[in-house]
Amino acid sequence: MHIAIIGSGTMGSGIAQVAATANCKVKLYDTKKEALEKASNSLDKILNRLIEKGRIDEVEKKRIQGNISYVESLQDLHDADLTIEAIVENLQVKQNVFQELEGIQKKDAIMASNTSSLSIASIASCLKNPERCIGIHFFNPAPLMPLVEIIPAVQTSVKVFNQVFSIIQSWDKVAVKAKDTPGFIVNRVARPFYGEALRIYEEGFEGLPEGEKGFATIDWAMKSIGKFRMGPFELMDFIGNDVNYTVTETVFTAFYFDPRYKPSFTQKRYAEAGYLGRKSGRGYYNYAEGAEKANP
Ligand code: NAI
Repeated sequence: MHIAIIGSGTMGSGIAQVAATANCKVKLYDTKKEALEKASNSLDKILNRLIEKGRIDEVEKKRIQGNISYVESLQDLHDADLTIEAIVENLQVKQNVFQELEGIQKKDAIMASNTSSLSIASIASCLKNPERCIGIHFFNPAPLMPLVEIIPAVQTSVKVFNQVFSIIQSWDKVAVKAKDTPGFIVNRVARPFYGEALRIYEEGFEGLPEGEKGFATIDWAMKSIGKFRMGPFELMDFIGNDVNYTVTETVFTAFYFDPRYKPSFTQKRYAEAGYLGRKSGRGYYNYAEGAEKANP
């Protein structure tokens, strides 16, 4: 099966690894050459780590790498049976890419979006054949997280839904059907986890320090006492502040400005400052080499 992945950032590179491991032929496309190089280098490191842990051998590494080609032109994606788009969380930009792709690919090629919050119906609406469009929402890091939400739009055909559902299962993932509602299942439930943590920080309380130490205090409470695996600030840094902020804004708007989902100025300012989290070396915490992580 020929798979095309659009966007070789955090999600696109992980999804490419999943599909390549399942022996699909994957073409990974990005408008930025350096993003493709980064994806290729990071896959090499990930596979070397798996070899060190004894999970795969050199032959398996070569097989996975051999299944992925890195392409710099959308035209190269002409032979895809299934395309998964994982680019910036912006409806207009996503629609532009899907429309261009429709002129390149065969009529029954499936087009999917990994969007976290945009409506699949609105993405599909830009296509001449919207019944081929669907949401396939992976979680970060895609190779490790078993759950994948499959989101049919009102336009999606039953045939396309069934095909996608079995493809994702054959990639050793747990597929669940989700409704095309803002944030689908997990992102909707998770919104207050981030939003309330930000609100607690902004409101402050006796003894809560400003900045990193304050974030670390809230994270510590959630992990040590609440038994969450990651604190909300660590998790936001892991996801990417830009991506997470945009998702919050979209969910807030889509729920007719329900105050439960109101975005935070702290998060907005951090995203504007380029404090995007792990991927930029600085988020709520500093990830620069040699920097010590704050303690509560
Ligand atoms: P990212 O910022 O890490 O990567 C996006 C990539 O898309 C970049 O390499 C960029 O150069 C490329 N790109 C931008 N416009 C493009 C275009 N027109 N054509 C081709 N490539 C283009 O973003 P990330 O985190 O991978 O998110 C991508 C999508 O996945 C978003 O829709 C996001 O909401 C969704 N998502 C993100 C998750 C996360 O935890 N980061 C989890 C699940 C879904």
